[in-house]
Amino acid sequence: MSATPALALAIVISGRGSNMVAIARACASGQIRARVAGVIADRQDAGGIALARELRLPVAVVAAREFPDREAFEGALRTAIEASGAQLVILAGFMRILSPRFTQVFAGRMLNIHPSLLPRFPGLHTHERALQEGAAEHGATVHFVTADLDAGPLVLQARVAVRPGDTPAALAARVQRCEHIIYPRVIGWIADGRLEVRDGTVHLDGTPLTRPLLVDESALAPSPAPA
Ligand code: GRF
Repeated sequence: MSATPALALAIVISGRGSNMVAIARACASGQIRARVAGVIADRQDAGGIALARELRLPVAVVAAREFPDREAFEGALRTAIEASGAQLVILAGFMRILSPRFTQVFAGRMLNIHPSLLPRFPGLHTHERALQEGAAEHGATVHFVTADLDAGPLVLQARVAVRPGDTPAALAARVQRCEHIIYPRVIGWIADGRLEVRDGTVHLDGTPLTRPLLVDESALAPSPAPA
């Protein structure tokens, strides 16, 4: 065992939870010096809840529809995150826009993964839009979360070549395979004290990043076989 305690993560999901599973596996295998302190879903029917329970992770549901407004929901979400003891908040397929007040509370301590090469294609339906525009390349981005949607400081991107005849589903599958590798990688850097955001600038090993780090799909090791 390492002398440094594992970084405690709260993973916040709305859907399938495949990134949550990839991160949990990276923790469990010792690939990254982190542990999942809690998985929090904003809806009862999030597919990832069952996966998190299978992995014996602590799960909390903070169902947005049960709160009268965003402020009340965010208050409960904050309470759940803080109750988990998390040091870092991981948005992983969380489908809600967070208020400036909420993002400020977790400034520098909250990451998101977005399925595009930001700043291209913020928002929804990124794969469809990339194909419609005839983009030659697409991908995914891990970034710190700020009040500006999909516009916080960018850390690491995976670039995926668009293939002739690609469908949104085929492209999404290749992008997701990359997501499952780059998201744990960034969390590992934070856990090792190598990565931080200071005055809005990302620093890796003490060096400010003037642009996000970029890896090609072909350079990423295949994700572990599904259980
Ligand atoms: C991912 O494509 C991620 O980029 C986006 O939402 C999707 C979540 O997938 N933010 P999953 O729930 O992790 O499978």
